[in-house]
This record gives sequence, C-alpha cells and structure tokens, in this order.
Amino acid sequence: MAIPTQQKALRLTAAQSDFSVDTVPVVLPQDDEVLIRIEASTLSHMERFMQQAGYYITEYPSIVGLDAAGVVVALGKNVTGRAIGDRVLYVTNFTSPSAAHQQYAVMKAHLTAKVPASISFDQAATLPCNVLTAHNGLYTGPTPRIGRGGANLTPFWKPEGRGKYAGQPIVILGAAASVGQYAIQQVRISGFSPIIAVASLRNADLLKSLGATHVLDRSLSASDLISQAREITTKPIQVVYDAFSSAETQGLGYDILASGGALAITLPVALDEAKLKSDKSVYMVYGAPNQPEYEEIDAEFFNALPEYLSSGEIKPNAVEYLPGGLHAVSEGLKRLESFALNGKLAVHPLETA
Ligand SMILES: NC(=O)c1ccc[n+]([C@@H]2O[C@H](COP(=O)([O-])OP(=O)(O)OC[C@H]3O[C@@H](n4cnc5c(N)ncnc54)[C@H](OP(=O)(O)O)[C@@H]3O)[C@@H](O)[C@H]2O)c1
Repeated sequence: MAIPTQQKALRLTAAQSDFSVDTVPVVLPQDDEVLIRIEASTLSHMERFMQQAGYYITEYPSIVGLDAAGVVVALGKNVTGRAIGDRVLYVTNFTSPSAAHQQYAVMKAHLTAKVPASISFDQAATLPCNVLTAHNGLYTGPTPRIGRGGANLTPFWKPEGRGKYAGQPIVILGAAASVGQYAIQQVRISGFSPIIAVASLRNADLLKSLGATHVLDRSLSASDLISQAREITTKPIQVVYDAFSSAETQGLGYDILASGGALAITLPVALDEAKLKSDKSVYMVYGAPNQPEYEEIDAEFFNALPEYLSSGEIKPNAVEYLPGGLHAVSEGLKRLESFALNGKLAVHPLETA
C-alpha cells in the first residue's frame, strides 16, 4: 500500500484548547526509526493531563496520544530487527511525529515490540505505556536525574528473574486499574506469593485469573486492610505497587510496607515529609522509554514481551472499540475521568473521516 503524504491527526492547538482532528503531513522515518501505520490507539489519562495542564507538551500545535499498535510500512536505513509488514506496538516519546492518535507515526525501531498474531491490534494498544509503567516501577532502580524510580527487582524476563521472589509477599493497590493488572501479571512471573490485590471485589475473579492469590475489598478502612494483609502473611512486605496512587492509597501502601521496603507510585508523592525521611523508599514511576535511563532496559523488555504475550503469561487488558476514528477520542476521555474502567478504550485512526 502506498504511503500517503497527508494524514489525519488529533491535536491540541493551544493550551487548554479542545482536541481537533486536522490534516497534517506524514513524517518519514529517520535512520533508526520505523514508520508505523496505526491500526489502533488507546485512550489514556495523559491526554487529559496534556489538555488540562499541558503535561509533556513543548510546543503547539501538538499531536497527542500515548499508546498505539500497527504495521511497519517503511524502515530507516540503519534499522535491523524490524521488517516491513511487522505488527508492532509502541509508546510515544512525547513528540508529534511519534504520537499515537494519528494515522502514521515514527518510532525508534528498537523501542517497538513485535505483536504476536494471536493478539489483536486493539489488545496490543492496551499494553505500551501501562505494561511499561508496571515494569519500570518494579524492575528499574532510582533515577535521581528526573526524580523517578522503582523497586529495583531483578526483571522477570532475565534468565535469573523467573521465580526469583518465590515465597515473598507483595501488595498491589489499585489492582484492577490497567497498570495494576499488568503489575500483577509480572510479579506472578517473578514468583511473588502471596500476591495481595486491593480492588473492588467485583474484580476478584479477573484479578485471580491474572495471578492475585488474595483480593481485598478496597472499600474497607486502611486499618482493616492492614490487618487482613497481616492475616494472609506474617512475612515483611518489602514491595508495594500502588497503581492508583491517591493520597489515601499511598498512605495505605506506606503503612503496609515493611521497614526498608519500596513503594512504587504512579502519581506525584502525596505523603507527609516525615514519611519520606524514613527507611522506606517511595518512587514515582516513569512509564516510557524516552529517557536515557530507561531506553536500554525498556528495549530489552519489549524484545522479551512477545514471548509472554504468545504464551498468555501476560494478557492484554480488556478493550472496548469506539467507532468514529480520532473523532471519538474526546468523548471517550470523559469516560476515563471517573476511574471506573477495568480496561482500555481503543479507536482506529484510519477510520477517521
Ligand atoms: N507515572 C507514569 O508514568 C504513569 C503511566 C501510566 C499511568 N499513570 C497513572 O496511573 C494511574 C492508573 O492509570 P490506569 O490507566 O491504570 O487507570 P485506570 O485503568 O483508568 O483506573 C481505573 C481503576 O481505578 C480504580 N479505582 C478507582 N477509584 C479508586 C480508589 N479510590 N482507590 C483505588 N482504586 C481506585 C478502579 O478499580 P476498581 O474497579 O477495583 O474499583 C478502576 O479499575 C492514573 O492516575 C494514571 O494517570 C502514570
């Protein structure tokens, strides 16, 4: 199929503007990049933050969108390991040419992951940022330069990583969020047990199918949740992953955590100064590979990811397709605001009228 010179893209044209669907040029790949025809992109909270507060936007107009999956249609001259026709997923590097909500995007080839035939493009597009957000909060160390970090566990996909933490307890808060579901699946491969998930109980069967050994009701008080966790395990809980990261869940995570342990959070710290001076470490996670500290490890993880998708050890989130192409994103984002989904919403940019 010929590559067009123009395409449709979803843009913010000024601070706090509405999203607009515009015609923009297709950018061709640099030497180490691939050009991807985007078959599906999913909606994320970051688009809301970009619109409301200009997060990660360096200039207007700016094409938005974090997560996409599609087909490689052109290669930069130095690209190895990717071929025209490959099915891939990727997360934006927060530039317009790599943004997800457009019909064609470029990305460094080694920061794409191949998508097995058993996974649909909609399913694949649920993964990029959130599977990395779970991964980086668990398996990367502190990154002082940008004030982010993670629990520094041995990655589950390294030969010595599978099952390494057998018999060690872990707690996942906001476990039914997209990020939480990807965290549960990765810590299961790492061997953690028990895996104590805190979520609405209507999600108990889903979370157990992903690897949670126990699901506690998130509507209980913090003291009840802590005592229930203590009934499940008397071992020190050295790692807590808080996918939701409100002030309440951060406080709960901090209190459940054992002395010397690590709490990974997905939003800025909302804990008292005193707590931040204790021997418990608190890390806000960075869920994209576009910082030097993350590029190599995230590329290695993306290289390993297809094997886990093929085997079913990592299952994509549930996904709902929204008709209407890029025009459906703006309304769809309003549904994210209530944090009531247990999966992702996908659009097909190529359908954009
Ligand atoms: N730092 C980063 O790089 C990074 C990257 C990606 C995402 N994030 C952030 O991570 C957070 C999660 O993102 P996501 O896409 O996974 O979210 P999501 O899937 O939209 O989250 C929805 C879930 O939130 C849960 N929830 C709602 N209210 C809650 C509460 N009061 N306490 C605990 N859980 C609650 C619900 O769980 P139940 O169904 O169990 O009620 C629901 O399943 C967002 O704030 C996002 O902005 C950060």
